[in-house]
Amino acid sequence: KKAAVFASGTGSNFEAIINKADLACDIVLLVCDKPGAVVVDKANLRGISTFVCQPKEFHSKEAYEKQIVEKLQEAKVEWIFLAGYMRIVGPTLLNVFEGRMINIHPSLLPKFPGKDAIERAYQAGVDKTGVTVHFVDKGVDTGPIIAQREVPVLQGDTKETLKQRIQQTEHQLYPEVVKQLILKK
Ligand code: GRF
Repeated sequence: KKAAVFASGTGSNFEAIINKADLACDIVLLVCDKPGAVVVDKANLRGISTFVCQPKEFHSKEAYEKQIVEKLQEAKVEWIFLAGYMRIVGPTLLNVFEGRMINIHPSLLPKFPGKDAIERAYQAGVDKTGVTVHFVDKGVDTGPIIAQREVPVLQGDTKETLKQRIQQTEHQLYPEVVKQLILKK
């Protein structure tokens, strides 16, 4: 099965996904909304096709997403994995891929949805937080949860050390959940 990853930034989760040997699907495309993002270099180095496209070049979000849907269909993509794609998915894209689009979020949803989730959990003084993989729906980090893993906040943690622990957990959990999901379908 063919899949695409959507990312806007560093792409450490993209890397974790493409590095998994027995993923059960092929990552054939990276979609990125930020020219110059590090994740684009990572895809290029690995010979994975990229589609870099900025919403501001289109007259509407619908036109932007239509272009993406075309690319995905051309590449025969069936699954989409969001990995730090910093946009809300609109109906143009969602209507085609709902139920086949998943996201990873660095908190135990429904706690701390949206941006800066790690920082907000840290500031709130919680003793544990975590990572959630969920289906994408029209809300922000509100779709049905597929898997969660807890991450403790340890004494002496800084935002940075907590972030590292969360990211390590993401890099283990996301490729594993992707694999299980594809195998089940
Ligand atoms: C991850 O923490 C992910 O949970 C969130 O965005 C971050 C992306 O990081 N949605 P990276 O680009 O994969 O390093």
